[in-house]
Amino acid sequence: MAMSKRQFPGDFLWGAATSAQQIEGGFNEGGRGESIWDRFAATSGNIEDGSDSRIACDHFHRWREDLELLKWLGVDAYRFSIAWPRIMPNGDTKVNERGLDFYDALVDGLLEANIRPFVTLYHWDLPQALQKKGGWAARSTADAFADYAAVVSKKLGDRVTDWITHNEPMCAALIGYEEGAHAPGHTDPAESLRASHHILLSHGLATRVIRQQWPDSEIGIALNVTPAHPATDSAVDGDAARWFDGLFNRWYLDPLFRGEYPEDAIADRVRRGHLSGSDLPYVQAGDLDVISTPIDFLGMNYYSRKVMRAGDDGEPIAVHAVPENQLTDMGWEVFPRGLRDELVRLTNDYGAPKIYVTENGAAYSDGPGPDGRIRDARRIDYMRSHLAAAHQAISDDVPVSGYFAWSLLDNFEWGFGYTKRFGLYWVDYATQERKAKDSAAWYREVISRHSVDDGVQIPS
Ligand code: FCB
Repeated sequence: MAMSKRQFPGDFLWGAATSAQQIEGGFNEGGRGESIWDRFAATSGNIEDGSDSRIACDHFHRWREDLELLKWLGVDAYRFSIAWPRIMPNGDTKVNERGLDFYDALVDGLLEANIRPFVTLYHWDLPQALQKKGGWAARSTADAFADYAAVVSKKLGDRVTDWITHNEPMCAALIGYEEGAHAPGHTDPAESLRASHHILLSHGLATRVIRQQWPDSEIGIALNVTPAHPATDSAVDGDAARWFDGLFNRWYLDPLFRGEYPEDAIADRVRRGHLSGSDLPYVQAGDLDVISTPIDFLGMNYYSRKVMRAGDDGEPIAVHAVPENQLTDMGWEVFPRGLRDELVRLTNDYGAPKIYVTENGAAYSDGPGPDGRIRDARRIDYMRSHLAAAHQAISDDVPVSGYFAWSLLDNFEWGFGYTKRFGLYWVDYATQERKAKDSAAWYREVISRHSVDDGVQIPS
């Protein structure tokens, strides 16, 4: 069989990603305040294994060790997030300098190691104090976010050029305020609609603030773009796929790139009684201009696709197109083609100026064998096929400029607690020992060759 060698462009960035709430721990140290995820996890029934992220991977204490893991991989870039409650523990403008110092040292450590920091400002850990004032459903939270962005960028902007305002606003708004499976665990569509708008607004405000402070910075937002395909070619199934795309993808892409919400998705909301008319009452004059402030790059988090059909009552439902044993531990289909398709679409439909794959990876539980080695061949297959899809998109002239593996290490997977392992490194939560999985060795090899070659072997 012919072996295909996929060489990536010389300046393509290889990275790994994490987020604060999922790895840091140190929940009450260094002046950190409570986050909505601390509060959410404290309520029994919210987290599958009854766990919380008070310690998580103890990265707060072990970040130097984790920096060594990044160095061993040879990554060019590291995407991490700042915990807002470390910086503004009370959700007001009073700044906790010790919180800033933590990230200051991390950034210096990364730069010394020649690793470019990609800083996410919001990866879902809102200060609980702001939730008390309405959280993202309250417009004032968007202003608070702009203040927070100003404080962080003032401190780090002399060394950090790459900023991601928000991670996956869809999850924060829809899963957090409507489905109730994420913090703050609300189930109110009206709140969720307002939350989505205020998150987008806060993105635009923060983009302007950072750019004003540091005109040469590169600012983007990370969206989880999930392609939706109809289960059959019937019109009703087609409409179910359209519905999903509108609610989960275009609801965010359209305001950001076109300065408008998608009409068909608004109509879906009206039909369900979540809006009384096509006017969105919480949108004020000028908001959409702020939201569509040009960005320097789009971050795309990609994991899987959705196959949709109309249920018996006409309501859209997601179905599986492949047997269960082919799904990842999240129950997600491995569908690399979707990555390429969506990258092409983001360029063609939205003119995304530059795209980083800011997250991609898979949950598989493979742990140490009797010899201690972690043979996570399925993760390698997953990453290889998705990198091939990204490479294909580059050949199609999509400006894909880098790839961040999710995740550097196993961590607190939100509502699933520690039951899902996405890491390139295995974490033994009892001892906090980290151990490279085969996928880490494989990724290291990919990075050093700058190519994804079907023949890349895992060094033994
Ligand atoms: C994404 C999140 C990330 C992680 C992965 C598996 O939606 O951004 O924190 O949970 O999924």
